[in-house]
Amino acid sequence: MTSEVFAPAKINLTLHVTGQRADGYHLLDSLVVFADVGDRLWFEAGPELSMDVSGPFAQGVPVDQRNLVWQAVELADWTGRITLEKNLPHGAGIGGGSTDAAATLNALGGVAQAATLGADVPVCLRRAATRMRGIGDHLEVADDLPQCWAVLIWPSVGVATPHIFKHLEKKDNLAMPEGLPKFQSHTQMITWLRGMRNDLQATCAALVPEVSEALTALAACDGLGLARMSGSGSTCFGLFETQGQADAAARKIAASHPEWWVKPCVLGDAS
Ligand code: C5P
Repeated sequence: MTSEVFAPAKINLTLHVTGQRADGYHLLDSLVVFADVGDRLWFEAGPELSMDVSGPFAQGVPVDQRNLVWQAVELADWTGRITLEKNLPHGAGIGGGSTDAAATLNALGGVAQAATLGADVPVCLRRAATRMRGIGDHLEVADDLPQCWAVLIWPSVGVATPHIFKHLEKKDNLAMPEGLPKFQSHTQMITWLRGMRNDLQATCAALVPEVSEALTALAACDGLGLARMSGSGSTCFGLFETQGQADAAARKIAASHPEWWVKPCVLGDAS
């Protein structure tokens, strides 16, 4: 029997870097949501482990132990044929490998060992709005976030997370306020989000000019007035109140930047 699972893109609506541990890992305070765009995986049990990759971002994806999906399957002690449809770009700050690994553990078992595969894998297991602290090991449900529309832009440049953290100068930034508000409207949420930050954004934009270009393109659209980078980049998102606004913005941006990956989507829970 073949089982099919969806691995949603992870978006950091905020990402505060609040410190660094002795082992080099950074302490974060981040509000994470999930999109209705993502990768797809199929698992067909059998005696041998094998893996195929298809989809728009299949090129360069390893089909062996280097792939987090393969590592997740080994943790789950499962064998068979894995098919991965790679719709999400890599080096993009939207959790590509982590969300694939989390979807695999959800489908096949082994969730207790999620953190061994990467700092973002535990939050990706949840697929729901979550406040993530520590190095991704302290997770707290963030309900009452209004679902909203977004446009994601990956400006066709991959970014390596360690590279961005290495260039980050200030690591002891303020955390988010202790209790998240119960948002009654999009406007309230946006006002609150505007007071928050992605502390990796300026560092990434200085190293990768395309990130600034993507943020400028999103800011020029008629949206809710929030354009920000996700994770360590290079994907940026803008928030919109309606599907029509997000679709129109995505069409406009795609027309002026045909080389970019531009996706309108819904942000919220993918569970
Ligand atoms: O855990 P993961 O493999 O996703 O992290 C990739 C790299 O990003 C780490 O090796 C580390 O250099 C950096 N990182 C960090 N602090 C975090 C998460 C990742 O410094 N909280």
